[in-house]
Amino acid sequence: MTKFADIKGFVFDLDGVITDTAQFHTKAWSKLADQLGVKWSDDLQNGLKGLSRMDSLELILKTGHKENDYSPAEKEKLATQKNDLYLQFVQTITPADIFPGIKEFLDELNQHGYLMSIASASKNAPTVLSKLGLTDYFEHVVDPRTLTHGKPDPEIFIKAAEIIGLKPEQCIGLEDATAGIAGINAANEVSLGVGSPDILTEADMVFEDTNNITLANIEANMNK
Ligand code: BG6
Ligand code: MG
Repeated sequence: MTKFADIKGFVFDLDGVITDTAQFHTKAWSKLADQLGVKWSDDLQNGLKGLSRMDSLELILKTGHKENDYSPAEKEKLATQKNDLYLQFVQTITPADIFPGIKEFLDELNQHGYLMSIASASKNAPTVLSKLGLTDYFEHVVDPRTLTHGKPDPEIFIKAAEIIGLKPEQCIGLEDATAGIAGINAANEVSLGVGSPDILTEADMVFEDTNNITLANIEANMNK
């Protein structure tokens, strides 16, 4: 069991952890699913969280038993269509959209000398960070284009520790997706879920309210 004193860094997912871009991804994918005649459900919505753009499209098509209906070029077109709509939503983001307490938590981490990085599957992460005014907090962002495997594979979380010079066991990973929590656990990092404990059942600790994500509360959870 990792001790709180061993922790030197925090590896953040972005969408659904730092801000509610998860709702924008959901809106854009559900519109595309409608267009493709694929039934939307809570399970599909939760299953899509954390998956790369193409993996998301493949899951939607598979859910509708349409995985063999489109050529690679057509799939590229559909993914681009979704991304164009997502980017329209992203344009509306301001620093006021940072989840409550997250900016304070980032400042607390900085004050205590913790390292931090971004482990987001999104190719749009740098744009979202810039809209939120958080670019300076995250000098280290894993480029999802460099990955061989998407979440739930641990690769992105191992890389996110590596780029801040840490071993995975020295990091806490924050995630809102079950695929992400699985990746953090497989990377041997401590997993902190943001969302419902009923969904994030495999996380080492879960916070429903981002205001409660503080070093003191994390330490208390690890000492339980
Ligand atoms: C993840 C989101 O962070 O990024 C997914 O949870 C999204 O919903 C994925 O599909 C890829 O994002 P993008 O911006 O590269 O299409
Ligand atoms: Mg997420």
